Amino acid sequence: MANVTVIGAQWGDEGKGKLVDWLSNRADVVVRFQGGHNAGHTLVVGNEVYKLSLLPSGVVQGKLSVIGNGVVVDPWHLLEEIAKIGAQGVQVTPDLLILADNACLILPLHKDLDQAREATAVKKIGTTGRGIGPAYEDKVGRRAIRVADLADREALEAKIDRLLAHHTPLRRGLGLPEIDAAAMLAELEAVAPQILAFAKPAWLHLNEVVRAGRRVLFEGAQGALLDVDHGTYPYVTSSNTVAGQAAAGSGLGAKATGYVLGIVKAYTTRVGEGPFPTELDDAVGQHLGTVGKEFGTVTGRARRCGWFDAALVRQSVALNGIAGIALTKLDVLDGLETLKICTGYRLDGQDYAYLPAGLKAQSQLEPVYEEMDGWRESTQGARSWRELPASAVKYVRRIEELIGAPVALLSTSPQRDDTIMMRDPFAD
Ligand code: GDP
Ligand code: IMO
Ligand code: MG
Repeated sequence: MANVTVIGAQWGDEGKGKLVDWLSNRADVVVRFQGGHNAGHTLVVGNEVYKLSLLPSGVVQGKLSVIGNGVVVDPWHLLEEIAKIGAQGVQVTPDLLILADNACLILPLHKDLDQAREATAVKKIGTTGRGIGPAYEDKVGRRAIRVADLADREALEAKIDRLLAHHTPLRRGLGLPEIDAAAMLAELEAVAPQILAFAKPAWLHLNEVVRAGRRVLFEGAQGALLDVDHGTYPYVTSSNTVAGQAAAGSGLGAKATGYVLGIVKAYTTRVGEGPFPTELDDAVGQHLGTVGKEFGTVTGRARRCGWFDAALVRQSVALNGIAGIALTKLDVLDGLETLKICTGYRLDGQDYAYLPAGLKAQSQLEPVYEEMDGWRESTQGARSWRELPASAVKYVRRIEELIGAPVALLSTSPQRDDTIMMRDPFAD
């Protein structure tokens, strides 16, 4: 099987962008299949830093890139991102980018609703405020405006009316100003030609690519514990982030997923609210945040940091069908005397080898730890397994044992080429 699906195996920001960029020179096409511009994927190539939220990370290597039907697309953001990366020397033309014509749009009213809810909520989710949740609500509520509607004025007018019939009372309740249908139509028509230049039946192109035996690299956003079904609900994002979504979110059959590569940080982080059993509120947590530069790409918020949670990643291996992992940011652990790994949880005298579904249970779990020796040497920028100190090798091997999946790739710095490959996911 030639295809590879990259997904985040924790709460996002595991280093998916770096790995997708690195792997994309082995692929023919790179596809985003869920999420929106809530994602922030950072690629570092020499002195150049690329921050992508909506564009697949294959664009930097000049790979054909697809934004699939499962993605929610803010058309203005898309054009801004194309312009920004263009200024960095990466020209994104319709030859390079395909936008699924059946993808749903994120509109300013979605952003308004997202932000108003967060501002008034007693218990915030800590969203990125970019309208992701409300846009997916309208998608399943069958009132979303899709890319193809931009080419059909009559359909667009009818859809705007339908959408506003839902949003007007909602906005009134939140004290937001009313939206004028004609103004909204004009705004969409103004952006339509530039967006439609990229619009195609992505499913058809991808099926042709697969039938021709070419290689597809799927790029997940967020992480398995932010999945709307399997994550720490309601502190999740509004899409399915697990590997199974790669097929549905791009218009390919279930088998297309191929080798599932879970991206796993050598410790744990989370941005936004919600349960986090191994979170550290102490100097070690601060150390991880500082050394790991754990600040959100999209919102600039400080990420919460904690020890590696093997129970969580073991669950992720099962939920995604992970065949192997890419372990990232091992270098951030350099110099720590002792490392802790969470192997399971305890709650009310009972042991759990997995994260139970109840919110109350999730927030009260006590992690069960085992301790390992750290290492004094630097692993930063290591490009071969032999360069790693013995304790680092032991730490990696123990992680493999506990999560039940092998390490296929190891990342030792933000730089593209500071990546060690033990096995080629495309060859498996
Ligand atoms: P993504 O959302 O999964 O693509 O991850 P982000 O890009 O949001 O966050 C990962 C951050 O860690 C980025 O700033 C990367 O440049 C950086 N990074 C990736 N891999 C490594 C690594 O192995 N070591 C270190 N120190 N930084 C890394
Ligand atoms: P990448 O692809 C980390 C989090 C938000 C919030 C929750 C819901 O860079 O790994 P949303 O705006 O999606 O409704 O917010 O999900 N979140 C992420 N956390 N990485 C991401 O993406 C995220 N995308 C959303 O912080 O807790
Ligand atoms: Mg990110």
